[in-house]
Amino acid sequence: MTRWIIAAASCCITVIGVGFAWHGPGDTTDAPNRVLRQDTTRHEEGTNVVERELGELRGRIAGREKQPATEVFKNIQLFKTMEAGRLPGVMGSWCNVLGVTCKHCHVIDQWEKEDRPEKQIARDMAGMVNEINTHLLKNIKNLDSPEPKIGCWTCHRGKLIPEFFPPREKKN
Ligand code: HEC
Ligand code: HEC
Repeated sequence: MTRWIIAAASCCITVIGVGFAWHGPGDTTDAPNRVLRQDTTRHEEGTNVVERELGELRGRIAGREKQPATEVFKNIQLFKTMEAGRLPGVMGSWCNVLGVTCKHCHVIDQWEKEDRPEKQIARDMAGMVNEINTHLLKNIKNLDSPEPKIGCWTCHRGKLIPEFFPPREKKN
């Protein structure tokens, strides 16, 4: 239900062409429902938080980067064939493509837990991207690229909710 309200609210935001990756305190340009779940950190601050967490994570796994992620981490369901050393980079890029910090999908320092539904959404999104790339796009004939591909950025572009309509031109 909450999710539906948020989706509906964000739809209005999209229609009026407003949407920021991070919201500073006192930023009232967005619908109240969105602000509840959106990071309240400013862009620069958000980047610093992400860098700090990634630094700590890299420190914790130092020397074990080449081991499988499944051996170094506790709850790997998606990255079963990945080296542990690649996981921090993926986490950082997800923050970047969505315009959030780690706590959008995790309770900080409880990385292996499933406290937040966004964590599973991210896994499902990765599955969707894989399905599009390996099946759906492949079956479209006469495309320009030899191997056409989409990624998280293709839709999200630094925002949690991808835009549906093109932004309206400003009249003034
Ligand atoms: C968009 C959601 C999302 C964001 C943002 C995110 N993560 Fe993750 N994270 C995941 C998912 C999903 C997994 C589980 C991957 C799997 O199943 O293989 C995960 C797994 C992890 C793990 C492994 C935990 C374990 O022991 O199993 C660590 C550590 C981690 N993330 C750290 C971070 C850090 C640090 C950040 C911020 C820089 C971050 N994550 C941002 C979704 C996210
Ligand atoms: C084809 C377009 C598309 C691609 C590609 C895509 N997403 Fe999404 N994503 C969506 C849509 C649509 C929603 C639903 C937004 C809403 O609630 O209306 C969404 C929602 C999400 C959410 C929940 C947002 C929230 O409000 O908390 C997360 C997390 C997410 N996507 C992560 C990812 C990740 C990570 C990737 C890349 C692995 C990805 N997405 C790729 C379209 C896409």
